[in-house]
Amino acid sequence: MARKAAEPLPLPLPAGRFVRTLLDWYRRHRREMPWRGEADSYRVWLSEVMLQQTRVEAVRPYYERFIGRFPTVEALAEAEESDVLAQWAGLGYYSRARNLHRAARIVCEEFGGRFPETMEEARSLPGVGRYTAGAVLSIAYGQPQPVLDGNIRRFLTRFLCLDGERSPDGRLWRLLEELVAHPEAAPRASDFNQALMEFGSQVCVPRTPRCGECPLSGSCRALAAGLQADLPRPKKVREPVRLHFLVALVRRGSEVLLRRNDEGPFLKGFWEPPRLEGDDPAGFAMRVRKRWGVRLEVAGELPTLRHQITHHQLELKLLRCRLREGAMPDGWQWADPAERRLPLPAYVRKLSDPDSVRGSLPSEFSR
Ligand code: ADE
Repeated sequence: MARKAAEPLPLPLPAGRFVRTLLDWYRRHRREMPWRGEADSYRVWLSEVMLQQTRVEAVRPYYERFIGRFPTVEALAEAEESDVLAQWAGLGYYSRARNLHRAARIVCEEFGGRFPETMEEARSLPGVGRYTAGAVLSIAYGQPQPVLDGNIRRFLTRFLCLDGERSPDGRLWRLLEELVAHPEAAPRASDFNQALMEFGSQVCVPRTPRCGECPLSGSCRALAAGLQADLPRPKKVREPVRLHFLVALVRRGSEVLLRRNDEGPFLKGFWEPPRLEGDDPAGFAMRVRKRWGVRLEVAGELPTLRHQITHHQLELKLLRCRLREGAMPDGWQWADPAERRLPLPAYVRKLSDPDSVRGSLPSEFSR
């Protein structure tokens, strides 16, 4: 059966007034961000990739450090993947970093070192979907391309009172396409798109929207219906799948013994202490010996750390271990988890960060 074309979404006020109100709000309330006002498409691109699934405040230090290390797309393209992951470690969703790195190489090899200027070419890059392409083309190049992120979706779902519609995204994209092409928005597409995102994250916030401060509240359909706190309706959250692991923590001063995880499925490419599935420490030393030929002695149990990877909850039982006589396998290393020399997963970096373990490890593990 042919699908009916979705009806366009009508705005509850003239588009010009909507655009002006948002731009005016943005002029007065925009936050300073290190990538704001940036015309360098690489910096805009990097910030937009980091900001996916991650809050502005969490991104700031990562962005600054990453730009310090890889100041140009060429520098990123020439880097080793492990170096890129090391800078990304802690931000999560590592496919973002891998795709960014691969895409940087393509940008250098095929697009002369400049983020492509057409939608089609931009979207041909790994990790660049409609959102990222629209964000970079509008913010860096001023093109009137729409963007739809979680903040904008929440704001418009309320403003238009979209209730009971299973997937309004198609219609929202169409509306945003029209809005950003409006004569008062198109010449300021960068500001207009960022105004929408910022408005969603500062005023039309999750749970308790700040309707008292909202310059559009007089036209908001959800507020009129008393549904502002109920929309968008929460999606059914998937229960995380729990997986149990045993982790050998062998220390030498501030360093821990690490190996590169080449097998996956979790944390592939990262450096970790020897980690095996299971939650019973009995027989652990023997399993380590069989697997890697390393002779360990388990000297005690430490608290369990939790590490969430998308919908998997890794329960990591730390075992304090000593290395017995014998050689370390090729490629294993001692490293201080506080350094960013190697890509370390967040749970390993926690071992040197007393704030993030909040006293859950004995003092010898949290300097
Ligand atoms: N979220 C993602 N990108 C953003 C931007 N450029 N401004 C504000 N919030 C954002």
